[in-house]
Amino acid sequence: MPTKLIKRIAISTGGGDAPGLNAVIRATVLSALSRGWECFGIRDGFNGMMKPEDYPEGGVFKLSRETVRGITHLGGTILGTTNRGNPLHYPVTQPDGSVIEVDRTGDLVEIFRQRRLDALISVGGDGSMAIAHALAQKGLRVVGVPKTIDNDLAGTEATFGFDTAVTFATECLDRLHTTAASHNRVMVVEVMGRYAGWIALHSGIAGSADVILIPEIPYRIDSVIEKINLRGGEGRNFSIVVVAEGAKPTGGAPSVISKEIGRAERLGGIGAIIADEIHARTGKETRLVVLGHLLRGGTPTASDRLLALRFGAAAVRALDEGSTGIMVALAPPEVRYVPLYEATKRMKVVSLESDTVRAARDLGICFGD
Ligand code: F6P
Repeated sequence: MPTKLIKRIAISTGGGDAPGLNAVIRATVLSALSRGWECFGIRDGFNGMMKPEDYPEGGVFKLSRETVRGITHLGGTILGTTNRGNPLHYPVTQPDGSVIEVDRTGDLVEIFRQRRLDALISVGGDGSMAIAHALAQKGLRVVGVPKTIDNDLAGTEATFGFDTAVTFATECLDRLHTTAASHNRVMVVEVMGRYAGWIALHSGIAGSADVILIPEIPYRIDSVIEKINLRGGEGRNFSIVVVAEGAKPTGGAPSVISKEIGRAERLGGIGAIIADEIHARTGKETRLVVLGHLLRGGTPTASDRLLALRFGAAAVRALDEGSTGIMVALAPPEVRYVPLYEATKRMKVVSLESDTVRAARDLGICFGD
């Protein structure tokens, strides 16, 4: 049990945004206030603390009941977020102009101490959980809240944002079906999912895709062409192909747009590659739709709002109970706590033996293998 009583906590949102972040913030603030604690928001991940000079209006600000009023249903995050300036790999420009990465988590813990902040609730994906783990190891009281539309964080059954992304992608697939059928076209739909194909898999099944390509199952283009031709032979001259951005051919690598120091590689382009190959090999008219960041925006579904609110409240409860170095996690029907390192040591990828993948195969969906 920590020796010092909690009076002031901070919350930060890091990495790519996901619908439900504002609901977490609201639940955190209301749960903290009801315990008589003060709650502070850090702007743009940890940048508000580490680069205060960039925030003349204050990189850390007090969150009141008024600040979080009416935000449960809003996408984005009122705190701002970033995937630059990771304190574990902080970019520092050297006198010769080169850039090196340094670990600044020790400095961050010291800033918390100077600001008399007793604990942190860190909301984010794998990157944010790794930072949270490092901060906890250096003595800061930290509770993580898992967020990502990709649903690839280990230790939790689900992350908020995923259901909203799948619901939207499914609606897009429904819409694309009618236009694909009317024109006898192949529609290739690229969705997010860098390490794991959860969005492609779930929306592809729910939206009756014919082909689903995910990072976990390297694809052979021959197999995709075969499926499209087979459908043609049965008189169905259109097809829907859902591709996760991290999908890769057998023996190949994911399609990378760019790589910057201190950031994960930007993926993209695999949908275009596949659409071109399908057109070249089948002669069919092919169109590409990249859903990209549309999947991250918009109002969270009821299910994501509920999960986010439960996570925020559970994170405060965990701090109140004296926990640190843990992440709140969904283990249906409960929200439980898991050690932060469990969430950071591996990604949660689609199991090829899962009933979901087997159901898709039974429905005749091709995975390109
Ligand atoms: O982690 C969520 C995610 O949506 C990934 O699927 C994607 O690769 C990444 O974010 C893109 O993030 P950004 O464009 O914000 O760098």
